[in-house]
Amino acid sequence: MSKLALVTGATSGIGKAFAERLAADGYDLIIVGRNRERLEEFAADHTGTKVRTVVADLSTDDGVDTVAEICADEPLTMLVNNAGVAHYMPLAELPAHKARELVHVKVVAPTMLTRAAVAGMQERGEGAIVNVAGMIAFSGPAEKSVMPRRAVYAGSLAHLVAMSQTLSAELEDTGVQVQVLCPGVVATEFHARQGLDMSVMPRMSAEDVVTAGLRGLELGEVVCAPGVEDTALLDAVFRADLDAFGGQSPELASRYRSN
Ligand SMILES: NC(=O)c1ccc[n+]([C@@H]2O[C@H](COP(=O)([O-])OP(=O)(O)OC[C@H]3O[C@@H](n4cnc5c(N)ncnc54)[C@H](OP(=O)(O)O)[C@@H]3O)[C@@H](O)[C@H]2O)c1
Repeated sequence: MSKLALVTGATSGIGKAFAERLAADGYDLIIVGRNRERLEEFAADHTGTKVRTVVADLSTDDGVDTVAEICADEPLTMLVNNAGVAHYMPLAELPAHKARELVHVKVVAPTMLTRAAVAGMQERGEGAIVNVAGMIAFSGPAEKSVMPRRAVYAGSLAHLVAMSQTLSAELEDTGVQVQVLCPGVVATEFHARQGLDMSVMPRMSAEDVVTAGLRGLELGEVVCAPGVEDTALLDAVFRADLDAFGGQSPELASRYRSN
């Protein structure tokens, strides 16, 4: 039985590492990115693998629609929503077009591609969706001195965490798995693309991130955090989320009542 994976942002970094690993694991591939040359180079370097290249800009509605159509039409075994941009900047200084691009690539695209792929996966009773987010999704409570200047990026990752967790519950017992993959800092072109030099920082390799993601699927992890040794830390976050969620009532909390 042939396996087919669609990987967005497969022209470099984590997406390319996913494509390479899945090719080695016997998957047919649909690889997506804006850089036609790199996509074709990948196909030429993997002649033993059936590779379809799709040039699409996921910051546009047309690009998202084109790839969503493929996700709906093709019998995907795996969808890897990986494409991303950072655009770290204080929100007031973030140009509107960059904010829009970030939300499109990291929120709209993965949402619409997942939506397009999931019905077919459910019908076939199998499939996996990997949404590449990052540990910054959990950094919201950090103080300014620790984690400033990336509100939209952090928000986009948090969307992927909440969507993946909720969808995973929705798909229980369907044979379809959902994972949100949350690396820390990874050695790719990601930061250099926006002029940041992170080369002095200790960084995980894209290959290790992929290893964690694929092993995490075998382990049934919904939130996969490649660099977190102590999974009790993540369990505590999820328990605290649920405690707060369950701690609400229709009564106005007393601290909001005037004396
Ligand atoms: N590197 C890190 O430290 C880190 C940490 C946590 C999470 N992540 C996440 O990991 C994912 C992959 O990033 P990476 O580190 O591998 O960075 P990367 O090397 O810069 O790769 C980003 C990929 O996204 C694609 N992409 C960007 N904008 C696109 C668009 N408008 N349409 C289609 N494709 C687009 C790029 O392809 P083209 O240029 O060909 O379009 C490229 O293949 C990102 O979503 C990021 O949020 C990265």
